[in-house]
Amino acid sequence: MKIFLKTSVSMLLIMCFISCGNSRSFFIKTASSGKSAVSRNGMVVSAHPEATKVGYEILKNGGNAIDAMVGVHFALAVVYPSAGNLGGGGFMMYRENNGNIFSLDFREKAPQNAYEKMYLDEEGNVIDGQSLSGQKASGVPGSVDGMLKAHEKFGSLPLPSLLIPAIKLAEKGFHITSKQARNYNHYKNDFVKYNQYLGSVPLIKEWNWKEGDLLVQKDLAKTLKRIKENGRAGFYEGKTAELIVAEMKAGNGIINYEDLKNYSSTWRKPVTGNYKDYKVYSMAPSSSGGIALIQLLKMAEHFPVSEFGSKSTKTIHIMTEMERRVYADRAEHLGDSDFWDVPINELLDDEYIAQRVEQINLTAATSSKEVRAMELENIVESEETTHYSIIDGKGNAVSLTTTINSPYGSKVFVQGAGFLLNNEMDDFSSKPGVPNKYGLLGGAANSIQPGKRMLSAMTPTILEKDGELFMVVGTPGGSTIITSVFQTILNVIDHGMDMTGAVSEKRFHHQWKPDFIYMEEGAIQEPVLKELMKMGHKIKGRGSIGRVDAILVRPDGSYEGAADPRGDEWAMGIE
Ligand code: GLY
Repeated sequence: MKIFLKTSVSMLLIMCFISCGNSRSFFIKTASSGKSAVSRNGMVVSAHPEATKVGYEILKNGGNAIDAMVGVHFALAVVYPSAGNLGGGGFMMYRENNGNIFSLDFREKAPQNAYEKMYLDEEGNVIDGQSLSGQKASGVPGSVDGMLKAHEKFGSLPLPSLLIPAIKLAEKGFHITSKQARNYNHYKNDFVKYNQYLGSVPLIKEWNWKEGDLLVQKDLAKTLKRIKENGRAGFYEGKTAELIVAEMKAGNGIINYEDLKNYSSTWRKPVTGNYKDYKVYSMAPSSSGGIALIQLLKMAEHFPVSEFGSKSTKTIHIMTEMERRVYADRAEHLGDSDFWDVPINELLDDEYIAQRVEQINLTAATSSKEVRAMELENIVESEETTHYSIIDGKGNAVSLTTTINSPYGSKVFVQGAGFLLNNEMDDFSSKPGVPNKYGLLGGAANSIQPGKRMLSAMTPTILEKDGELFMVVGTPGGSTIITSVFQTILNVIDHGMDMTGAVSEKRFHHQWKPDFIYMEEGAIQEPVLKELMKMGHKIKGRGSIGRVDAILVRPDGSYEGAADPRGDEWAMGIE
């Protein structure tokens, strides 16, 4: 009777959550929904409650993880415009319940008229801001092609049905959260600066936005309808393509009809490695995330991390030293593997990793000036982004990270089409030795070439234990993505935290250059800070790092969804 009552109450709350629609009932917490949720028959965790709800309903109506992914992606393009997108790109890891793993690279590409020095002035200096804002900052968007390609191969419900929830959210509107209200007000001046026809910019409002305001996006609804009716051609050809090209001409943009028509996402072989008893699958180039994460985990295996404890001086020191070296390798060796011979095997080679570990002094920080990417032998061969994790009732799992790069990307709304374009061109190295917006360095491997994909740090990851699904994890956060995923995995495997604890834990980050350990407030306790500084580390406080949305398969087979407390993230499970 007690169990019956508990179940009924929780069902009632879920039903209210779903049927309340546009009301501000986002944050009703039940055992199977909230910042932390537990369920047995599926789980969705995303950056916005409305998008999570779309995925939940698709799963409940018999859709699989890929169907839910498509629904969540298009919903995020409506309810989470700072990073959810039609005008961006990303990476998907997909594990079928039989253990088959697939990964899809739908990262943006440099337009055909792009060239290596396109952001340099006559003296060869980087022109401030050109790769970051305005029409010229955009790569050719990949998200729509990626969603449709994944759906074509693995989806089970008809595509149009998966777009309907997003169309409704755009057409009828949804009530914004307090964080969104603050954010839209904060970026208003940028929207005004980079858009010519302010009447068509949905995020501009005469008065300030406040929590609960209704955001209606009619032009975006029309674009989504064109995709629903015409599939890929509804975006890369016809009216939407015309609007994108017209927007390019309104500024100094270079994306043309051919770029759009020719865009194609690419299936990639995932990067894999073992960490203790776990098998790790993550994203290959054009993301650096998979290689860097597996390098870090393989280095961590050389140390008794668990014995050291999660926030001890020793742990923070060795993690920092490993990160310093991995980001130095990234800057030198990583780029789009369709254009650059990325030495994946060498970078993940056990002996190479052991040599890197040997260089770590256990009692003192190495200055980043002294750390270089190592010569590899035998080379034959937001910071705003968003991540969502999904497992369906049959155990198929999706880990997907997507972005338009900065918050609201280039800040340019395609006039008449209602969506924002990315500013992903800044992820290329505009000039060797000159950092991008994340302070990341690069060289020839990540130089601009027509048709090339800019190097990413996105790290959608899936872990197995004993051949069974164990964790689905990823995060936004620009250069901090890799280290946040790394820290979250160690929190669970080495420090015995549950998924919710691991995701909530305060984070720290190092990326070789600049030579600082960046920490969230309270991430490192005072005595540890002092010891680290004595060892030669330089430490800087900063705002929040990452927003990890993850799912853990618990020993009893149930799913623990963890939605990062730093944002509006929300988890919902199917009981
Ligand atoms: N735009 C951030 C990244 O792809 O890493």
